[in-house]
Amino acid sequence: MRNSDNSAGVRSLLKTVPLLMLVVACGHFNRIGISVAGAEWIIRNVLKATGLYWRARRNAERILVKRNDMRFKTLPPLFEGFTILHISDLHVDMNEVAMNRLIELVGSMQYDVCVLTGDYRGRTFGPFQPALDGVARVGTHLKQPIYAVLGNHDTIQMVPGLEAMGIRMLLNECEPIVRGNATIYLAGIDDAHFYRVDNIEKAASSIPHEAFSILLSHTPEIYRQAAHAGFDLLLSGHTHGGQICLPGSIPLTLGSVLPRRFGAGAWSYHNMAGYTSAGVGSSIVPVRINCLPEITLHRLRRAQEGGSSVGTVAQSQPEKETRE
Ligand SMILES: [Fe+2]
Repeated sequence: MRNSDNSAGVRSLLKTVPLLMLVVACGHFNRIGISVAGAEWIIRNVLKATGLYWRARRNAERILVKRNDMRFKTLPPLFEGFTILHISDLHVDMNEVAMNRLIELVGSMQYDVCVLTGDYRGRTFGPFQPALDGVARVGTHLKQPIYAVLGNHDTIQMVPGLEAMGIRMLLNECEPIVRGNATIYLAGIDDAHFYRVDNIEKAASSIPHEAFSILLSHTPEIYRQAAHAGFDLLLSGHTHGGQICLPGSIPLTLGSVLPRRFGAGAWSYHNMAGYTSAGVGSSIVPVRINCLPEITLHRLRRAQEGGSSVGTVAQSQPEKETRE
């Protein structure tokens, strides 16, 4: 009896140790002094040791197209059906096969504006030209206008190159979007996660009090400030939905100071609707488990008379769900 207990304990330990190593490598490596190369080694080898590596590599190329309808009382009637293609966390120089798949997917899509919510570069340091070259390759398949913000993997030195591609970078700024005699406002803030150069007040300063407004932020961690500033919708990424998750898409870590319910997909906070993209790319190692990459088509709808003024009915629907 005692021997059987012992062997069960050893088996449990053998399963737990790799899991703990993955948790450390995925979310906390920089806090406890493990280098990126060290985290990369741990993730790659733990996945290989557990036989999950090649499946996880294939998953990183299986991009879902999610559809997210949201209703707002404050949306001008002329903007009924306004559609936003949301692409986040390209990490474009990490996985060429995934970027080729992305190009195939976006070519035939219909949308009114495209937004990119940061993290174009694979690493947080080093050369950025390969990332710019990759964004340029994807960007030629996207329809204008394209609006974007920077993420914690990006440097401000990338901005001229991105703007030269026709991408309007929103660095604590706001742009009006006009249809007929109606206007909505699209604002964007600089990275609030690592560089902490976000300024929501500045980005919102030119938005009329009652106007419908959207905020782009790489990280959703600023959800309280965004709601307080009066934004109707916050679009973000950064979390990768966990990237390596337990069954049921339960993330080992979100790499953020954030309630779990804001970690991926549609959510709401007070009078603001929000969406956190799981991202189309992958960081550290191009692998995903129980958390497929995504791009998202958000469609803005008018709330029916008597309906909620908040976009709380948002529910993402994958165009083609694939099971892992
Ligand atoms: Fe990212």
